[in-house]
Amino acid sequence: MKKDIENRKDIEKLVNQFYEKVKVDKTIGYFFLDVVKVNWEKHLPVMYDFWDNILFYSGHYSGNPMQQHLALHLKNPFTVKDFVQWNKLFNDTVDELFEGENADTIKQRAQSISTVMQIKMFK
Ligand code: HEM
Repeated sequence: MKKDIENRKDIEKLVNQFYEKVKVDKTIGYFFLDVVKVNWEKHLPVMYDFWDNILFYSGHYSGNPMQQHLALHLKNPFTVKDFVQWNKLFNDTVDELFEGENADTIKQRAQSISTVMQIKMFK
């Protein structure tokens, strides 16, 4: 039996492992490596704050991901397939590491945000 996501350390583990998958992914990896040359030292802590806030309401994140992805979409359009793959990698990573109520919640939240992004992008 795996443990549930309990604290920020668990979030960090999840985020790190997720981006290890993202970077080598044939469908979406190039967004991070070529379209935006992501500075991982900066991006990863932002993502820890983002997910820590989504799951534990830590209040540390104050960005606007919707706006950032809309801007990115103008530069290099996303497709539905990209979002499906993003969510698959996210769910796979959660399932590899954790199970429980918070693990279920974080997957649901990721899916809802992804759905809202797609509605705004493809409307
Ligand atoms: C097609 C799927 C997606 C792709 C290819 C993608 C790609 C990216 C890229 C390239 C960045 C910029 C990183 C940087 O500036 O260094 C970014 C930032 C971010 N993404 Fe995504 N993304 C996707 C979907 C999502 C989804 C579904 C979520 C949330 C559930 C999400 C949450 C974020 C957040 C929170 C940031 C940081 C924004 C900030 O700097 O405040 N992304 N994404």
